[in-house]
Amino acid sequence: MRKKIVAGNWKMNMNLEEGIKFAGSVNNYFKEKPSEKAEVVLCTPFIHLAGVSEILRNGKISAGAQNCASEASGAYTGEVSAMMVKSTGAEYVIIGHSERRTYYHETDSELNKKTALALAAGLKVIFCCGEVKEEREAGKHTEVVKRQLTDGLFSLPAESMANVVIAYEPVWAIGTGLTATPQQAQEMHHYIRSLLNEKFGEDCAATMTILYGGSCKPSNAAELFSLPDVDGGLIGGASLKLEDFTAIVEAV
Ligand code: 13P
Repeated sequence: MRKKIVAGNWKMNMNLEEGIKFAGSVNNYFKEKPSEKAEVVLCTPFIHLAGVSEILRNGKISAGAQNCASEASGAYTGEVSAMMVKSTGAEYVIIGHSERRTYYHETDSELNKKTALALAAGLKVIFCCGEVKEEREAGKHTEVVKRQLTDGLFSLPAESMANVVIAYEPVWAIGTGLTATPQQAQEMHHYIRSLLNEKFGEDCAATMTILYGGSCKPSNAAELFSLPDVDGGLIGGASLKLEDFTAIVEAV
């Protein structure tokens, strides 16, 4: 059985007070109605991380960052290292989100360094991949995802895949209200699993959690999560509303 995960990606939303309050509400909700089938993760801005980790400490929910530096330490003004993220009590870090790739020009080789450092620091990595609209329209979506995974992830040793979760997020579906159809999602997740099989073998392919992200909401979550190769979701906008986020977790 593969682990199911629903991770909220808050992106750059909520000030510290609002974020702490919201994490408390999510935590209280799942204390009363524990999520039996899915692990719940809250990926917050850096400044929220220590406070949120503290709130979640004795519960079942984990905290995660949305990025970390591609260097271990030193004179990199404004950066936050994987070790620093780990020291807050966070367990996860998102690496390679399309917004980082697009707006901050993060390359596959930088993402490879970030992933290696995050794993070495003892974090679990949610590694994102996904094509833009033009690539999908040109029929290049599988080629793009293959390159992102090959150059960003596949140079790492097979054992480290136990601490990696892949998130397929078609960029054209992020924040647009356009969700991938169940067929598009299943096809890509199945393809990713076939790449894992080729590179790391059957066991890794069968056990690795692959999340879907992109306009996932209560109304489409159950259908997406019931697909054979979809093991949960990485949720943006809908993770900022308690009702929507908890409904998505319950859809698992
Ligand atoms: P939306 O759910 O807002 O489309 O964002 C998805 C995403 O980017 C999660 O990382």
